[in-house]
Amino acid sequence: YYLDLEHFALSAEQNSSCSVEPGSAQDVSTILQILGNTRTKFAVIKSGGHNLNPKFSSTLGVQISMARFNQLQFDAQASTVEVGSGMIWDDVYEQLQAYNVSVVGARATGIGIGGYIVAGGGYSYKTNQHGLASDNVVAMEVVLPDGEIKTVVGSRLVDRDLFFALRGGGNSFGIVTKFTLKTYPQTEVWGGSIIYSGTEFASVSAAVLNYTSNNKDIKTGIQCTFATLQGQDIIMANLFYDAPAPAPGIFDSFLLIPSISSDIGARSYLSLIQSANTNLTAGVRGIYNTISHTAVTMNLVDSMQNQSSFYGSMLQSNSLLLNGYVIEPFLPEAYHHGDTDTAYPPNRNENIHPMNIYYAWTSESSDSIMLDAARQTAASLQQIASSNGILASAKYPNYAIFGTPIGDLYGENADRLHHIKNLVDPFNVMGLTGGFKF
Ligand SMILES: Cc1cc2nc3c(=O)[nH]c(=O)nc-3n(C[C@H](O)[C@H](O)[C@H](O)COP(=O)(O)OP(=O)(O)OC[C@H]3O[C@@H](n4cnc5c(N)ncnc54)[C@H](O)[C@@H]3O)c2cc1C
Ligand SMILES: *[C@@H]1O[C@H](CO)[C@@H](O)[C@H](O)[C@H]1NC(C)=O
Ligand SMILES: *[C@@H]1O[C@H](CO)[C@@H](O)[C@H](O)[C@H]1NC(C)=O
Ligand SMILES: *[C@@H]1O[C@H](CO)[C@@H](O)[C@H](O)[C@H]1NC(C)=O
Ligand SMILES: *[C@@H]1O[C@H](CO)[C@@H](O)[C@H](O)[C@H]1NC(C)=O
Ligand SMILES: *[C@@H]1O[C@H](CO)[C@@H](O)[C@H](O)[C@H]1NC(C)=O
Repeated sequence: YYLDLEHFALSAEQNSSCSVEPGSAQDVSTILQILGNTRTKFAVIKSGGHNLNPKFSSTLGVQISMARFNQLQFDAQASTVEVGSGMIWDDVYEQLQAYNVSVVGARATGIGIGGYIVAGGGYSYKTNQHGLASDNVVAMEVVLPDGEIKTVVGSRLVDRDLFFALRGGGNSFGIVTKFTLKTYPQTEVWGGSIIYSGTEFASVSAAVLNYTSNNKDIKTGIQCTFATLQGQDIIMANLFYDAPAPAPGIFDSFLLIPSISSDIGARSYLSLIQSANTNLTAGVRGIYNTISHTAVTMNLVDSMQNQSSFYGSMLQSNSLLLNGYVIEPFLPEAYHHGDTDTAYPPNRNENIHPMNIYYAWTSESSDSIMLDAARQTAASLQQIASSNGILASAKYPNYAIFGTPIGDLYGENADRLHHIKNLVDPFNVMGLTGGFKF
């Protein structure tokens, strides 16, 4: 029972009346029909439990855990793999190592396949090369809100609408039990994390700007976090290159800066995601918020650092443990790979860089203060991005705080999603669970 409820953020956890662990699509179908007929509130589908929004994968009603959907089947001929929707990416990477292949998946440990793909789409270290995880889905097995078990195949015209909606549109369209994903040859990769003192801000921000203005190599990926950890300003750079060594010089501007700690080099793709320092704040209270921008300016980076510092000192006495502002720049190519008719992002001609804003704290009595700060700080940065002419139109649903309007996430796709929702779920069974709703 407690394992089924467990979330990355304690504040996203609720003690449900009971939990249920379906073992087959038929079980899921039976469960959904009972819940629908009795109008019982439920949390769909906890996959990895990494969503930070309260009630998105937790409930006081019936908790459905997908933990038993943990089977992986590699098809070498087709270069695809079938994965159960209850798996975490760590397990997928690990099991695929035996075949020297991998998939487009998460950049940190513990993240579920289900929410990552269905509730957002999935940004990966391989996104510049292959798109979002959702762009690399070939087929899905899904239990529709009325209990029908359906295999949705991307190449089949009649499945197009559902295939579109289930890739980033959230949990409004059914419960996915299995994904078929494209695989790619995988060697060792190069990368890891470097932590700098906040006093290196000028050098690190220059390195970020150099990278975003000059890098064209799609084998790269970076995340750079301007953070306050227990009152101290720190900066964290996660670097990635999809080969055992990076192209010469490409990350020199990061590597030459004096650091507090550095864990970087040739390693397995699995070891890379497990080396990210994300478990540091697992099990405390937390929230994400986001804006999206189309380029990186010095003014934006300065403002991220200022926001981190400003709220970092202001909220010390309210049990703030860490706040982090993450720059995640992608190349325009990132949005032009694979099957791109997906719920998110609504406009593939916009070079979206999703910014992750993260607050972690310990005291429940600070919840509303932290939620306010997470909203205010995003509004300030949105204003800066807008005045710099670099504000993108769509926010990444997997980073967006609850209450974010649907139009801010799905833009011109919102109407199509609404229409599909009404067709597949006329009795609003999926309205019994939390999440962004149409
Ligand atoms: C430490 C950390 C690192 C992260 N790194 C990344 C990253 O590198 N890239 C990125 O894109 N995002 C990242 N995220 C965000 C992450 O993608 C979202 O939190 C995502 O929702 C987590 O998926 P989950 O399955 O673990 O979550 P859950 O909380 O289990 O589920 C999230 C939502 O998806 C729904 N859902 C889950 N499974 C299914 C299913 N089978 N069918 C239908 N609906 C389902 C749930 O109902 C819920 O609403 C990160 C988050 C954290 C906390
Ligand atoms: C759930 O119940 C346990 C045991 O009674 C308790 O310790 C915990 O605080 C409860 N969690 C929530 C979120 O209510
Ligand atoms: C995977 O790569 C390693 C190292 O190159 C090699 O020794 C091994 O035989 C490969 N395994 C498969 C299944 O190709
Ligand atoms: C700037 O970036 C380019 C390309 O990414 C790299 O080759 C160059 O070495 C970097 N410049 C500095 C000063 O590090
Ligand atoms: C992260 O924390 C989870 C939950 O405590 C644990 O199971 C996992 O092994 C940890 N992962 C790493 C890489 O430390
Ligand atoms: C830093 O952020 C705070 C809070 O948003 C704001 O009041 C202040 O003007 C900012 N300072 C600078 C130098 O941008």
